[in-house]
Amino acid sequence: MKTYRLALIGFGNVGQGLAQILHERSAFFAETYNARFEVVAICTLSKGNLYHPAGLPPQTLLEGQSAGSWAKIHADHRDWSTNEVIVNSNADVIVELSYTDLETAEPALTYMRAALGAGKHIITANKGPVALHYPEMLATARSKNLQIGVEGTVMSGTPAITLAMDSLMGAGVTKAMGILNGTTNYILTQMEHNIAYADALQEAQEKGYAEANPSGDVDGYDAAAKVVIIANLLMGLPLTMADIDRKGISHLTLDDIQAAQNANERWKLIGSVEKHDSGFTASVQPTRLPVSHPLAGVAGATNAITYTTDLLGDITLIGPGAGRQETGYAIIEDLLALHRQQS
Ligand code: HSE
Repeated sequence: MKTYRLALIGFGNVGQGLAQILHERSAFFAETYNARFEVVAICTLSKGNLYHPAGLPPQTLLEGQSAGSWAKIHADHRDWSTNEVIVNSNADVIVELSYTDLETAEPALTYMRAALGAGKHIITANKGPVALHYPEMLATARSKNLQIGVEGTVMSGTPAITLAMDSLMGAGVTKAMGILNGTTNYILTQMEHNIAYADALQEAQEKGYAEANPSGDVDGYDAAAKVVIIANLLMGLPLTMADIDRKGISHLTLDDIQAAQNANERWKLIGSVEKHDSGFTASVQPTRLPVSHPLAGVAGATNAITYTTDLLGDITLIGPGAGRQETGYAIIEDLLALHRQQS
């Protein structure tokens, strides 16, 4: 049995989803994969940091979260800074789940550089550092034989990255196009049921889909970051956020939605990137699709991506794109991939 010790940086929706899955399924993972995943540290802005080298039971963390305090949780250390936890704890995997900043990537970038510097693997669902600094971090990780898991950055636990990297890249991925933001797709779907934009956005926030600052969703930055990640990782295109021709959905009214419906069409926020002989095109744009289009039927917080390949033509993957359990599971996928790589 191989044990992986995890330090969770951040304990919001994704961290709690991960803890719930570990609580419910650790025995299954041990039995099926011969791997144990143990949380030894947790770092938060709201309740401070805990480090207990022998392990912090996930259920206890969830109870502490509900109670709003970790006073009752037994931990050897409560005063280590996040940097000390990353560098000096016995964790061998840093699970970076702090908030997303698509302009600076901080504080996640500093945490991840510290983790790599200390010889620790990284798993993250944080789009900021991956969209803005992945090539630099990958080079460092490779030079030290470390892994960086990023499945949760695109389409939550739906394996959009792993499927493409493990199975499709050899077929030559020339284009990716899809619905990459759950919040906006949820809002557009609700507006088709005559629910006002502001109410639908509030629902998406309550369901845990939206970013801490929902402008990231409704103005298209989140989808643009995912386009950048796909372009860099899967298509070898070194794009940045500035390369994406981006527009969001906040200008759309119930009348616009209705007008599309009357013409047998639906509004979708479509992210795409395509390689040409002469370069690339990359965009995030609200688009009216005929209802017969495969992406038009993708409703609610569900995401979808179509990869166009030289050898296989189009491959479409449809699945959850946001949510607590859904993104928590992406961390499990990366942990199991790390375990396969280490075995
Ligand atoms: N806010 C994002 C979304 C979360 O709605 O898709 C997942 O990246």
